[in-house]
Amino acid sequence: MKALSVKKSGNYVDCTFGRGGHSKKILSLLSTGKLTSFDLDHESEKSAAEIKNSNFNFIRANFSEVSSFFQNSSLDGAIIDCGVSSPQIDQPKRGFSFQKDGPLDMRFGDSTSKTCYDIVNFYSEKNLAKIFKQFGEEKQSKKIAKAICVQREKKKFETTMQLAIFIKEIKTIKENKNPATKVFQALRMEVNSEIDNLHKCLISLKKLMKKGGKIIVISFHSIEDRLVKNLFKHKENIHEKRIPIKNDSLPEFKVSKLIIPSDQEVEMNVRSRSARMRVITKL
Ligand SMILES: C[S@@+](CC[C@H](N)C(=O)[O-])C[C@H]1O[C@@H](n2cnc3c(N)ncnc32)[C@H](O)[C@@H]1O
Repeated sequence: MKALSVKKSGNYVDCTFGRGGHSKKILSLLSTGKLTSFDLDHESEKSAAEIKNSNFNFIRANFSEVSSFFQNSSLDGAIIDCGVSSPQIDQPKRGFSFQKDGPLDMRFGDSTSKTCYDIVNFYSEKNLAKIFKQFGEEKQSKKIAKAICVQREKKKFETTMQLAIFIKEIKTIKENKNPATKVFQALRMEVNSEIDNLHKCLISLKKLMKKGGKIIVISFHSIEDRLVKNLFKHKENIHEKRIPIKNDSLPEFKVSKLIIPSDQEVEMNVRSRSARMRVITKL
């Protein structure tokens, strides 16, 4: 909230409402200002409906579509808190958990066309290995992809525990976290096209921010943070078509150093341990 430096009459966007932790805090700092929050999740829509505040509006949509709802240079601040929420992980029926059994789903919202089931049971071995390596940074990506493809010929994968136990049996290099962690992260990122959506959203926010406006990005993956840094630090690759543009003017944005949680915060909230935050200011 300090980084966002909320103005009482400002116009703000929370791209990832979740259960509204950030949104409620922003609303408490506004007087005549406005907050619009996005999320794809039905449960978020229900939580948002409980907020009775005329300054607040919830839209159940993909944050990649943020530019359809605002004019250029109209926002004072935006926050993106990437990834999955704790309540989503904790509900086995959503299929994010490798500790509680549920269907292979992993969608943030039902508008997403593919599920984890589709990817695990129908992607080619090459594609599976690619996403495990790229999104999961999984060292045994090829081995796991191959084993999945052999196994699914006999019987399709149906549940999260079935997949998690299978991965544990396949992996030879042992780590100190659950052996399925990296593969599950990769599958979730692929199901929800997380990098693509973040990219589209950030491109839109560049245009939607007023001068002096702040964009806060909390990310959990090096690809996400690299995307943020590259998009805002270099002028030449900001175009969707990646056409180089002249780079002889002053920078348009200032990007903060990485801000990471304190030991005390991690102790209180262990899921914050891999969070990294950047504050981007439009100059
Ligand atoms: C880490 S949680 C946010 C938690 C939130 N800051 C809070 O205080 O409760 C991320 C949320 O973003 C949502 N989400 C992820 N990708 C999205 C997208 N492309 N469009 C809209 N919502 C998205 C997820 O459904 C999830 O609820």
